[in-house]
Amino acid sequence: MRQAVLVEPEHIEFREVPDLTPEQLSDNEILINVKKIGVCGSEIHSYHGEHPATFYPVVQGHEYSGIVVAAGAKVTKCRPGDKVTARPQLVCGKCGPCRRGQYNVCEELRVQAFQADGAAQDYFIVPEDRLVKFPDDFSMEYGAMIEPAAVGAHSVSRAGDLTGKNVVVSGAGAIGNLVAQFARAAGAKKVLITDVSDLRLETAKKCGIENTVNVLKTPLKEAIKEVFGDEGYQVGFEVAGVESSIRSLMETIEKGSTIVVVAVFAKDPQLSMFFLGEHELTLVGTMMYLHEDYLRAVEDIAAGRINLEPLVTNRFPFEQYNEAYKFIAANRDRNMKVIIDLEA
Ligand SMILES: NC(=O)c1ccc[n+]([C@@H]2O[C@H](COP(=O)([O-])OP(=O)(O)OC[C@H]3O[C@@H](n4cnc5c(N)ncnc54)[C@H](O)[C@@H]3O)[C@@H](O)[C@H]2O)c1
Ligand SMILES: [Zn+2]
Ligand SMILES: [Zn+2]
Repeated sequence: MRQAVLVEPEHIEFREVPDLTPEQLSDNEILINVKKIGVCGSEIHSYHGEHPATFYPVVQGHEYSGIVVAAGAKVTKCRPGDKVTARPQLVCGKCGPCRRGQYNVCEELRVQAFQADGAAQDYFIVPEDRLVKFPDDFSMEYGAMIEPAAVGAHSVSRAGDLTGKNVVVSGAGAIGNLVAQFARAAGAKKVLITDVSDLRLETAKKCGIENTVNVLKTPLKEAIKEVFGDEGYQVGFEVAGVESSIRSLMETIEKGSTIVVVAVFAKDPQLSMFFLGEHELTLVGTMMYLHEDYLRAVEDIAAGRINLEPLVTNRFPFEQYNEAYKFIAANRDRNMKVIIDLEA
């Protein structure tokens, strides 16, 4: 089978390795024929040598969809021919967070494509407990986008009940876009998404997020007044990863409200702790997802509550993995989600 290995930054090597076969499966494992892989923002950092926790050489690919080829003797969740994906989280099952059901923050967490090998090859083996099945008519491209969608679903779950609340999402990249869509699907009253790129805001509109503002042109405070009137907003999501973004959320959100920090900050922001206390704000972290977030993502996408179509910007055949990264680097805000097609 083919395998793409990121041997060192900016260098993916294509190898021919022995096929994985049904004979290798243990009782609870499933053999998948990988069909589509989404390229993730963090993998772009690994590709350029800017991800501090990537172990090279590594097989990338943790956003993928495939078809079940064979299942171990005790597998009950799926059958050959089923469309599936699986969570990429390898956890210990023994630490405090794991015992509490917070295995997404396992003390020994390893993520496939970063600290363990991922799915950038023709066949991949996964255990049943991390497997998620799609409906038969589900798009395989959407299947490859369940992972980022699950990030959106989990981020939104971290804010508690959104029913009847107004929401601001700061940052309209793929993740911010999905956070905004899941916030709406979770019952938010009105959702306003912000960015500094008109292109990204246009994509948000195509996904059905009506309220957008380019904060380089209109101050957030003005946009909030225009969209929410005197109601203000009660939940914020920081998905841009820059100081000005988190600061403006803290300064404009209603007192006593919650801000979920989704973005990974390359540089720590300077924030007023006085302000945090005086306004009794709650700042909440969020890390990847739980299994139920994958299930929620599949359900909401299948039901049409989340629109992924405008997010797919380009497709590259497997052999052009390197070209895909070069395209992304040359088209920063034009690119939302690039799909590697193993069948092309
Ligand atoms: N918490 C998690 O589990 C998790 C999972 C995946 C990704 N992430 C993080 O989420 C963040 C977003 O991911 P992405 O793939 O969408 O990244 P991205 O870089 O595509 O999106 C960030 C967006 O923020 C915009 N932006 C920049 N300055 C802004 C400002 N002042 N106000 C509003 N918007 C501004 C950018 O134009 C861009 O569109 C990243 O930091 C990523 O590492 C977190
Ligand atoms: Zn990802
Ligand atoms: Zn653990």
